Amino acid sequence: MSVSDTLCILRHEHASLDILFQRHQEMLVSHAWARAARLLTQYQERLTAHIRLEEKFLLPYCTDGSGSSPRWGSHVYRTEHRKLEELVRAVTVRLASARRRGVTPAMLIDLLDKERTLKHVAQHHHEREEKGLFIELHERLPLETRREFSKELLRVSQCI
Ligand SMILES: [Fe+2]
Ligand SMILES: [Fe+2]
Repeated sequence: MSVSDTLCILRHEHASLDILFQRHQEMLVSHAWARAARLLTQYQERLTAHIRLEEKFLLPYCTDGSGSSPRWGSHVYRTEHRKLEELVRAVTVRLASARRRGVTPAMLIDLLDKERTLKHVAQHHHEREEKGLFIELHERLPLETRREFSKELLRVSQCI
């Protein structure tokens, strides 16, 4: 398995997450609340699994050391991961609360505003990983680690 295969899998998984979130928002604007909530739960599960794999396989190699140092240290990626987890948790709670009370147009606008922030942070994060993290790590990453990461990432994309 080549470096570009792994990068391709990573890009594909980022794109799949974006599509899943887009489908969730389509359900929101169609007022299909139960389906919107289900898709948001799927997004949250898949994002959480994705983050867990990156922190297990990639971030331990994202440190200053021999060779050229990464542009952004692992703490930058970890901070963004925590932010993404917090944002997705917040919109999940907000949607559940709105559904309990009966979703009004004002609640929907408020939810979409919050989701815009989540989308924005996720898109920047994915881009930073694809253009920074993974490119800078490919020489440090042992072949076995890269293989394992790719295998696990594919498993997540097929399971959830
Ligand atoms: Fe990430
Ligand atoms: Fe990622």
